[in-house]
Amino acid sequence: MTAIDWSVLRTAAEAAREVAYAPYSKFPVGAAGWCADGRLVTGCNVENASYGLGLCAECVLVGNVVASGGGTLVAVAVIGPRPGALMPCGRCRQVLLENGGPQLLIDAEPSPIPLGDLLPHSFGAQDLT
Ligand code: THU
Repeated sequence: MTAIDWSVLRTAAEAAREVAYAPYSKFPVGAAGWCADGRLVTGCNVENASYGLGLCAECVLVGNVVASGGGTLVAVAVIGPRPGALMPCGRCRQVLLENGGPQLLIDAEPSPIPLGDLLPHSFGAQDLT
């Protein structure tokens, strides 16, 4: 895989944010990720009248990665209603870890951060054996 074009990834996250379903929080979020095989996959938050059931954009992204063939995420950008990178919430860090591992780069200022730095000492499949 060639160098990550973060500007393309952010633009894809912004496009995904445009179709977010966030009538309750009014906080639309878009996420875009590159898979190791070159696929660019997106997700947006999907809220629910039963508030606690809402899905974060990153969870929808991971679902779309799996539904479109699986594989490993290598870079993810998340964008909310305000300019700049939005850092994934705690639950999303765990969900992203499953399909990206600790090397997955998360868009951030001033530079991308490996997911392992955002979720150190994490729980994973190795703990189930
Ligand atoms: N949200 C995300 O989609 N991703 C995050 O990492 C943080 C929060 C969504 C959930 C909810 O629909 C809205 O943003 C406000 O919390």
